[in-house]
Amino acid sequence: MSMIRRVFAGAAAAALLALPAFAQSYPTQAISLVVPFAPGGPTDALARLMVEPFSRELGVSVVIENLGGAGGTIGVGRVASARPDGYTLLLHNIGMATAPTLYRRLPYDPLTAFETIGLVAPVPMVWIGRPNFPGTNFADMLAFIRENGDKVNVAHAGLGSASQLCATLLQAQIRQSVTTVAFRGTGPVFAEIMGGRIDLVCDQTSSTTPYITSGRVKAFAITSAQRLSSLPDLPTATEQGTPFEVTVWHGMYAPRGTPRAIVDRVNAALRVTLGEPRLIARLAELGIAPEPQERITPEAHRAFLEAEIARWRPILTAAGEYAD
Ligand code: MLT
Repeated sequence: MSMIRRVFAGAAAAALLALPAFAQSYPTQAISLVVPFAPGGPTDALARLMVEPFSRELGVSVVIENLGGAGGTIGVGRVASARPDGYTLLLHNIGMATAPTLYRRLPYDPLTAFETIGLVAPVPMVWIGRPNFPGTNFADMLAFIRENGDKVNVAHAGLGSASQLCATLLQAQIRQSVTTVAFRGTGPVFAEIMGGRIDLVCDQTSSTTPYITSGRVKAFAITSAQRLSSLPDLPTATEQGTPFEVTVWHGMYAPRGTPRAIVDRVNAALRVTLGEPRLIARLAELGIAPEPQERITPEAHRAFLEAEIARWRPILTAAGEYAD
């Protein structure tokens, strides 16, 4: 072995020895993947689709733990204070970037309390309503809101959730407030919409698609720039005359201090998972394409999170909504 290669080999061995023993053999036991919302919603749906190939890649079970409440901040806070050993991971959405503005006393700082592992998938949203909601299109929905104002109830998953962001942006855009009703996730909202007790919700295609295609709810507009092949008959809000675009992004996190070797191991499994043809096909049925591989990195994820926190701060401050 040449002198230089011996030095490199020695340095690599020393780096490995410097890792805690648990990082060298990781993973050896089941991993908890925290979803900071109730079962049945879009974050849960995405996690459930990913969990089988992700478990296979890691060689251990990955168990979803739904910890809903306070717009996801309860579950996120739990992961922030978990042991940084790679056995507690978090799947969260755009709320990671909006909560620092919405909560003046947030019990964690998204930029210092976590290791970013990689971006997962952008997901469009849809405005849906109870089956007997008057009208058939986005203009009808907006007209009803303008006529009925605070008598209209719109569900969301708490301040800091994507559904709340969508509801806030629409109210600000049309300058009309409604009554908002918070749930621990949007999963429990579907029964309320189908039962006619909730008028509207703006939620992601990952959970709304089966309800729309089976005709159990009314769908008024998709919030993507273009129509989706998974819901080809549903026009965008913009093509119906009201420019309104919201896309929810998702990322995976570990508590700050998780050894880099573990972050890299989880990242490698995430990259394989999101490139898996069966998962890609299943996501496509829900109008979702996974992030491109170059965005599924800790660095790209961190840079995007920083940019998103900065992007949403002035918008939400102008909307004037605070959770505390
Ligand atoms: C959100 O509004 O942030 C999510 O839809 C909540 C969920 O995943 O249940």
